[in-house]
Parts: sequence; structure tokens; C-alpha cells
Amino acid sequence: MQLIETINEMSQVATAAVRRNKTIAFVPTMGFLHQGHLSLMAHARGLADILVASIFVNPTQFGPNEDLDRYPRALESDSQKCRDQGVDYLFFPQSQEMYPDGWQTTVNVSRVTANLCGKNRPVHFTGVATVVLKLFNIIKPTLTVFGEKDYQQLVTIRRMVKDLNLEVDVVGQPTVREPDGLAMSSRNVHLSTEERRSALSLSASLARARDMVAAGARATAPIIADLTSFITNHPHTNPDYVSLVDPETLEDLNVIETGALLALAVKVGQTRLIDNCILSVS
Ligand code: PAF
Repeated sequence: MQLIETINEMSQVATAAVRRNKTIAFVPTMGFLHQGHLSLMAHARGLADILVASIFVNPTQFGPNEDLDRYPRALESDSQKCRDQGVDYLFFPQSQEMYPDGWQTTVNVSRVTANLCGKNRPVHFTGVATVVLKLFNIIKPTLTVFGEKDYQQLVTIRRMVKDLNLEVDVVGQPTVREPDGLAMSSRNVHLSTEERRSALSLSASLARARDMVAAGARATAPIIADLTSFITNHPHTNPDYVSLVDPETLEDLNVIETGALLALAVKVGQTRLIDNCILSVS
């Protein structure tokens, strides 16, 4: 595996690969890699000739009071994990090179980012879409693999690719969970033992909602009320949102007709966690 720090070198390697008709799979990350990231890499490895991963803690997707400084970093052990997954090139650019003095262009994917995390994190998805487009332009991937845990991010990237006619296939991969159900996240490391116990209320809510829908519940307000009180009965929890939305537009639903995305964001102590699942009506 080759480590690449500069945009110029990464871009040259990618251009040479494209000229040789090689396909490139790309997995963007912010590092502190866990099994969730590794499963994206393992899947991507089988889909293309060349596998590129990136590690870049992107400052533009963090709001002023968010956890940019607290975001965990571990480049050395991350490199080893990427090597073990068969990554060919690990790109880890510097912030100053990605956002040099004078940069001013952003990508705003407007409607699918308006609800859910976009409501309380106004700059987040513009930061994500902007950095992902920059990375696509540098790495020139044939396909990219994103986790379904960040469902709104996946929908946003799919929308950007469609709207801007980018020639990249966007592949979604299921959420990877700890044996007790907690969705894997780089932020889980911040949870105390008691907070971690409370964090299980997120995945338990998904199961609870599935049972309610299987038992015939269709109106969303009572399901949301039930899940909100279930979560807040666990110590240290403070839901940001518990929402049932259309899986494509991400707009709120009043009634589940064919299916819905259940999306949760909950602060557990100081740590903001998200989880989601599709609820299908058969
Ligand atoms: O999901 C993430 O880790 C980030 O949002 C991404 C896609 C790497 C962009 O910074």
C-alpha cells in the first residue's frame, strides 16, 4: 500500500490508472477506522482493480460548537488496517492543501439535507458534499462505497452525483453493529460504561418500531412518541430527532403507506449518535 499526502501525487496516480483502463473503487473516511469502515473497504476491494481509501477529518462539515477537536485520530493503526483490507493507496491530505487561503466554492444539495441531521447541523452536508466532490475530482473513482448508517449522507451523495452528472457509481453498504446491537461509530469511544448501556436504546428502538409496524401501526406520531419516551427513559439520553420519513425525499411522513425510514439522532452524554432502519409494510 502506498501512502499519499499531496493532491498532486494522488491525482497523477489516478490519471495514470484511468489511462491504463483500470477501475478505481474509493472509500472516503475520517479515520479512526472500525469494522464498519473495514466492511466498506472489503466490499469495495472486490468491485474494482484499484482500491483507494482516504482519511481526512474534514473541518467544513463540523459546526462551530461541534466535536472537530475531539474527533479521534489514529493514522498509524488506521494505515495498518487499510493495508490489511488490501487498500492500494491511502490518501491523507492536509487541511491547508484541501482548503487553501481564498477557497470559496461549496456544493449545496438543498432538499434532501433540509430535514433530520440537516436541521440542527446547517453546515454539515454542504461540507460533506463539497469535500466528497473534491475527493472524486482528485481520485477519479469508477465507484464509491458509503455506509447506510449515515443514510442521509448516502442520499445526499447519490443526489449530488445525479444532479451534477458525475460518472461514479454510489454503492451503499449495511450498517455494521457490535454483538449487542450498537451501530459501530468512531464516536462510540467517548461513551462511558453507563452511557454505552443507554446508547443501546437506539438499536432497541429500531426493533421496537419494527414490532409496532408488524402489529399494524401506521400513524407516525404515536410511534415517534413511544420511541422518544422509550429512549429518554434511559439515563443521559437527549434525542435530537426521532423521525419517520420517506426513504428517498427524506420528508416527514404522517402515515406509513408502503415503507419509511426510521432515523434517530440522540445525544448520549456529550456524544451524538445516529441510527436508522427501513420499515417495510408488506
Ligand atoms: O462519513 C464520513 O466519514 C465523512 O462524512 C466523509 C464521507 C468521509 C466526508 O468527510
